[in-house]
Amino acid sequence: MPMMVELIGNYQARAKQALDQRLPAADLHPCALHQAMRYAVLGGGKRIRPVLVYLSGAAVGAAPDTLDGPACAVEFIHAYSLIHDDLPAMDNDDLRHGQPTCHKAFGEALAILAGDALQALAFQVLGQDDAMVADPATRLRMLGVLAQAAGSRGMVGGQAIDLAAVGQELGLAELENMHIHKTGALIRASVLLGALSQPKVEPAVLEQLDHYAKCIGLAFQIRDDILDVIGDAATLGKTTGADRALNKPTYPTLLGLDGAREHARMLHEEALASVQALGPEAEPLRWIASYIVERAY
Ligand code: IPE
Ligand code: IPE
Ligand code: MG
Ligand code: MG
Ligand code: MG
Repeated sequence: MPMMVELIGNYQARAKQALDQRLPAADLHPCALHQAMRYAVLGGGKRIRPVLVYLSGAAVGAAPDTLDGPACAVEFIHAYSLIHDDLPAMDNDDLRHGQPTCHKAFGEALAILAGDALQALAFQVLGQDDAMVADPATRLRMLGVLAQAAGSRGMVGGQAIDLAAVGQELGLAELENMHIHKTGALIRASVLLGALSQPKVEPAVLEQLDHYAKCIGLAFQIRDDILDVIGDAATLGKTTGADRALNKPTYPTLLGLDGAREHARMLHEEALASVQALGPEAEPLRWIASYIVERAY
């Protein structure tokens, strides 16, 4: 589907430009901190979360200009989560986006601070972006959605569960709980923030999109676990085999590779069913759900 590839490519490029514009300049004091932030955000990545903001927003009729702020906010949280995830105290990874991880390039202290500052910037952008048309109550709701997804009941909580699970044998329900939080929460927030950018979005539509997002969020981390086993480091831009080396419980360790693939396939089907009623505007959301479970990168 070349049209879809082009559409997603355009949104990825749009996201990168919007991120660049909202990041502090590299020569602004304190320069090293701002350089570390720019390095972590602009150095690479698929921009799947901003793309989901744009696609979800477009599916309910939101204009792209109104989506740049939310798209950047979720990507700033994501970039910060990766900086901290790669630190020696967490996954201790040296490679990200085919380049040295932020702490390898800038030192641990600046990497921690760059993550902290990106988190604050996410909320600043979501709270203040001029092009957003959300009324004040909706904007507050959006800030709440992002805060919950990022915090101890969302991504950070999931990361804590991940660290506590090292060397443990988790059951399927516990593994699912970990993935829903560490990765699913922010993907869910991306879809919700896109939809909430259209002030007249129907609650029923919001619910359908939310269910879709829950399914693809979990499927995304299952595919990440699979790629850690079968993926190619040069394509992924990160070290493979890291989960096994760190003794992390994953879907492939619990269900085997085929079992993990089957689980992702079921979630894909459930995601498609959730947005069945949405019509042709949701076609790119359907396409990206397929990409998420099949991707090689
Ligand atoms: C990697 O996320 C970490 C997970 C939450 C699975 P992505 O695969 O979206 O990372 P980039 O931004 O594209 O590198
Ligand atoms: C990371 O999961 C999830 C978050 C950063 C919140 P992983 O640790 O599996 O991500 P990668 O494989 O390092 O990208
Ligand atoms: Mg991790
Ligand atoms: Mg990691
Ligand atoms: Mg991983």
